[in-house]
Amino acid sequence: MSKKHFDTRAIHNGRSPILQGGMVNPPVYHGSTVVYSSLDDLETAKASHDQKDALVYGRLGTASTFSLENAMADLENGFGAISVSSGLAAVTTTILAYVNSGDHLLIADTVYGPTRAFCQHYLSRMGIEVEFYDPMIAANISPFIRENTAMIFMESPGSITFEVQDVPAIVAAAKSKNVTTALDNSWATPLFFRPIEHGVNISITSATKYIVGHADALMGLVVADDEENYYRLKVCRDHLGQSLAPDDIYLGMRGMRTLGLRAKHHETQALALADWLSKQSVVSQVLHPALASCPGHDLWKRDFDGSSGLFSFIIEKRSKKALAALLDHMELFSMGFSWGGFESLIVPQEAENSRTATEWNNSGQILRVHVGLENIDDLITDLSAAFDRYLATE
Ligand SMILES: Cc1ncc(COP(=O)(O)O)c(C=O)c1O
Repeated sequence: MSKKHFDTRAIHNGRSPILQGGMVNPPVYHGSTVVYSSLDDLETAKASHDQKDALVYGRLGTASTFSLENAMADLENGFGAISVSSGLAAVTTTILAYVNSGDHLLIADTVYGPTRAFCQHYLSRMGIEVEFYDPMIAANISPFIRENTAMIFMESPGSITFEVQDVPAIVAAAKSKNVTTALDNSWATPLFFRPIEHGVNISITSATKYIVGHADALMGLVVADDEENYYRLKVCRDHLGQSLAPDDIYLGMRGMRTLGLRAKHHETQALALADWLSKQSVVSQVLHPALASCPGHDLWKRDFDGSSGLFSFIIEKRSKKALAALLDHMELFSMGFSWGGFESLIVPQEAENSRTATEWNNSGQILRVHVGLENIDDLITDLSAAFDRYLATE
């Protein structure tokens, strides 16, 4: 399927009706135990337990698991994928596959909060030196790379403030010193950005977001660029006992079928809302990678094929009472920490205490929105009324 367009592959990958009793969708294999009819078969399976798509034991993957993993690897143009129980597990499994005690890890200052917490609390305890870098560092990352640097971790755009990183420049610096690169690509999904095509070794997706797309399952997918990196990730995943439950795999596969359609509509909706926000006097800045007001916008234009439904904007800071007046009475936007589902969400965020290599000097109030699939005029009406309440409250 690799020669077909993205949307076609998202529809056809991982399905084989002839092998599925004629049904359009692959069956969900519930099961821990795989049984063998002869000693020879059992011994062959045992000997192949660490191979790709080997059917040995439920935790190591079933035919359902392999369908999803291979479908995702193809969408990313990678060698192979592993699936795990959440996006955060995808991050931690990836990092643990590469770092040893005494190593140094370079990680973008704007990574997702729990990724930062894992590095600060667990890796530090294991004798791994974690150094955060300015996400806008580009080729200037070179002097930060040491003999013992095991990985450069990127997240682009960054969480909360959406800085777009110069991925090719960072990859070039890493490659010149033989350092592995990984990137959290949850925001873009492989529809809008394929890290491996830009030289990144490992692409991480919280499939909880746009792949599942309906806010009803947690899932992490990690795609490796080559065989060596794939097996390194698979061995680590298996050692950690990570796996993905069959019904969730089904929801991931089902979400993948409509990813192209949904993500493009989220994109249109978010661009319309961002445009409206940028004209409101209460809004001082819109942090959406497709707008010139977002750091790294030119890099987004150069490297990405589109933008998703998640972005932030900044309004003048007022009292907590005013913020509550804005948020507590919204009709359509719910307050919630996730994103990527069909529904619109809004959360207040702060950036000053979530970074250590850079400073956040903007004193305004950040609001992060996920723009869902509701009618855009209704969403604008909801936010407009929220701004009126904000400005009317002391
Ligand atoms: C950028 C990013 N990466 C990873 C994750 C973790 O995903 P999960 O909630 O599936 O563990 C999140 C969750 O919000 C995220 O925003």
